[in-house]
Amino acid sequence: MKIYLSPPHMSGKELDYIKEAFDSNYIAPLGPFVEKFEEAVKAYTKAPYALALCSATSGIHLALRTLGIKEKAKVAVSSFTFIASLSPILYQKATPVLIDSDNSWQMDLNALEDALKKERIKAVIVTHLYGQSAAIKEIAQLCQKYGAFLIEDAAESLGAVYEKQHTGTFGIFGVYSFNGNKILTTSGGGVLVGEDEKLMQLARKLSTQAKEEGFAWYEHTTYGYNYRLSNILAAIGVAQMEVLDKRIAKKRRIFSWYQEELTDIATFMPQIPNSQGNRWLTTALFESDPLKIYEALKKEGIESRPLWKPMHLQPLCKDFAFYGKGESDKLFAKGLCLPSGTQLERKDIQEICQIIKEQSC
Ligand SMILES: Cc1ncc(COP(=O)(O)O)c(C=O)c1O
Repeated sequence: MKIYLSPPHMSGKELDYIKEAFDSNYIAPLGPFVEKFEEAVKAYTKAPYALALCSATSGIHLALRTLGIKEKAKVAVSSFTFIASLSPILYQKATPVLIDSDNSWQMDLNALEDALKKERIKAVIVTHLYGQSAAIKEIAQLCQKYGAFLIEDAAESLGAVYEKQHTGTFGIFGVYSFNGNKILTTSGGGVLVGEDEKLMQLARKLSTQAKEEGFAWYEHTTYGYNYRLSNILAAIGVAQMEVLDKRIAKKRRIFSWYQEELTDIATFMPQIPNSQGNRWLTTALFESDPLKIYEALKKEGIESRPLWKPMHLQPLCKDFAFYGKGESDKLFAKGLCLPSGTQLERKDIQEICQIIKEQSC
């Protein structure tokens, strides 16, 4: 591939910080950079607590486990999302209830309320899709009304805000991903944020094999996981956090370049009023077959990707309840994620758009 969908973009400081970690010999999970990384995420998002982890998926799992979500519990989850929003529900042997999108592409409030009325839902996991905020204030209000915990899958939306408040900080828990194609990366990693000190302490304990404190030996009253981030990867994260504003500005510029080029042939993902997304990926619907565009780009060494195949269309999920009108089926059929790497320049976008235009005649 000559152009990837959203490749890593280093700030230049990463190797200095990694060297500092090597010089201190903290080549271990935990260490000063893990703390610095957690502090940087807290300072940026204004989340009260943060826990650095090996992935966002592990963060969603810890959120469910600490909230006591287990067998027979029902958890409402965005259907139009990546599988990792849902799979931790299955790790806990709980039951997903799939909620469709509306024409904002984000979780449909009416479908969610319908599910909350009809099912005994313990928690709601909402995805902030492709870096844009969902109608999170309204979703939080619904969760409060029906007594469900709110977990925000903000894996894609670090830096996105709703009424100036960061996505990930509206619910009892939120997660950000730092995997290889996100707006920032630690090569692999995630951060769980939360507002409840005790629950966050429990999540921290479970993330390091649930060792009891106050013993010389390893004492266990429950089981945990090996979910912590290494000091080396956290060093990358600290350097990356320093350029988050720059990366968001570039992602948003790339989005506007695509808009200018493709205005006649594409409908772009909207933004919920009073919110500002990070435009992690520029995504759009096309009148012509998006798979034809995908193939034409691939032939030129350019990576694109169909929109998420909704969970309610996945064979894995055929037995789970689904609430909605199938809006995300239509988005899946017509949409494409376009190359959105922050190293791209206007001429790259023009080259990509030229190929798209040729397929759309
Ligand atoms: C919506 C969504 N949720 C969860 C994840 C999982 O993040 P991670 O790869 O850090 O576990 C991703 C990305 O991979 C994602 O896009």
